[in-house]
Amino acid sequence: MDEATLRRKVSEIEGAYQNFKGPFRVAYSIKANFNPTVIKTFVSEGIMFDLTAANELLFLQRCGGTSENVIYTSITETAAEYEKVVRNGVRKIVVSSNNGLTNLIEAVSKTGEAVNVLIRVNPEVRVKAELRFSLRHGKFGVQLDSSGDDSAMPMLRRILSTTNLKFDGFHFHLGSQIEDPSCYASALEKLEAFILNARRELGDFPVNTIDIGGGLPTPYGKGVPAPSDFSGKILEQLNSLIASFGRKFTLIVESGRYLSAESTIMVSKIVNTKRFGENKYIYVDAGYNNLADSALLRHEYPVEVVPGGSSNAHQKTVLAGRLCDSLDVFTTSSRSRLGGAEVGKLVVFREVGAYSFVLASPFHCQPRPYVLMKTAQGEHVVVRKGQTIEELFEDEGGDTLSGQGEK
Ligand SMILES: Cc1ncc(COP(=O)(O)O)c(C=O)c1O
Repeated sequence: MDEATLRRKVSEIEGAYQNFKGPFRVAYSIKANFNPTVIKTFVSEGIMFDLTAANELLFLQRCGGTSENVIYTSITETAAEYEKVVRNGVRKIVVSSNNGLTNLIEAVSKTGEAVNVLIRVNPEVRVKAELRFSLRHGKFGVQLDSSGDDSAMPMLRRILSTTNLKFDGFHFHLGSQIEDPSCYASALEKLEAFILNARRELGDFPVNTIDIGGGLPTPYGKGVPAPSDFSGKILEQLNSLIASFGRKFTLIVESGRYLSAESTIMVSKIVNTKRFGENKYIYVDAGYNNLADSALLRHEYPVEVVPGGSSNAHQKTVLAGRLCDSLDVFTTSSRSRLGGAEVGKLVVFREVGAYSFVLASPFHCQPRPYVLMKTAQGEHVVVRKGQTIEELFEDEGGDTLSGQGEK
């Protein structure tokens, strides 16, 4: 991992939104990479954190982060979880269901703490992305244009009438690796119409925060829009919302992939090769146990043989992982540089810092690999210890079943 890249990504997002007329905050989505050194780097940048689990809060606090910088968006939304994070100082909570809101009300009535609440809406707009979260009737968020309990208007009414809950604003998350930023404009249009309509019905209420979620794309060797292309499409609209609401609000942009992916490469070694018809197979000592999205999403990472060489135009090189599973073949394209592949050389996978080793598994008894960081001072330090095969054996239960484990 490269510390300088992590830091540069923060300033790129901040730079893209510098013309927003209200306060602007970037929030790092810890789920993308919860390595403590990554978290500490972002803590020292003074940004916010988008958390989805109480355990992520523990990681953040152990890394010197404070709960005032947290926006908490749970999927499970249990009362126990809300009580735990509220007792640990979290004051900005996004609710995604009426049941979640009931649980939050129960939690704040026990703790006696006042909490700022946002409603996670699903604007149900068309999204062009690798992962789309704004599908109609999707898993995340509530509908804007419905009147059932699990929709924005009744939940807003309920929040506005509950002691200890302070309505803070709205949140949406449209998807990951978004290729066309116009979906943010469509979502904001729907949200504005909803807010103006709700004001007519409920009277004036403050909108202090609008969180437009994550989705900024990583190049992965292709041309993708930069953060400034995203902000360019929506800044005018965001600034006119300030005029339409009659007061400023804080804009939050969440990001996991954009902030962490490009910082990291994975180095594997070619351990076997074979010819099969027109194809040359090369096998590396890594697999989708290290990069789950290569199997789950057929996601393509930029790859390169080191040292490289020329490739045979009549032969297709297939990059296969070490796992005994036909899914364990990495997607490559003409962008991949696989020429000169032979046993003993390296294959470097680039831009693997997001949703990679946090999804890893020890399939085939594979201990987790070391992670090193190149610090801003140019030193290489171990930031995650690799696991030995003995440690893996113990973690998997080890001698427990032969009666030597804890009772
Ligand atoms: C609510 C929320 N915000 C932000 C993100 C981060 O998305 P990305 O990594 O595409 O920026 C996610 C990812 O799943 C999410 O669920």
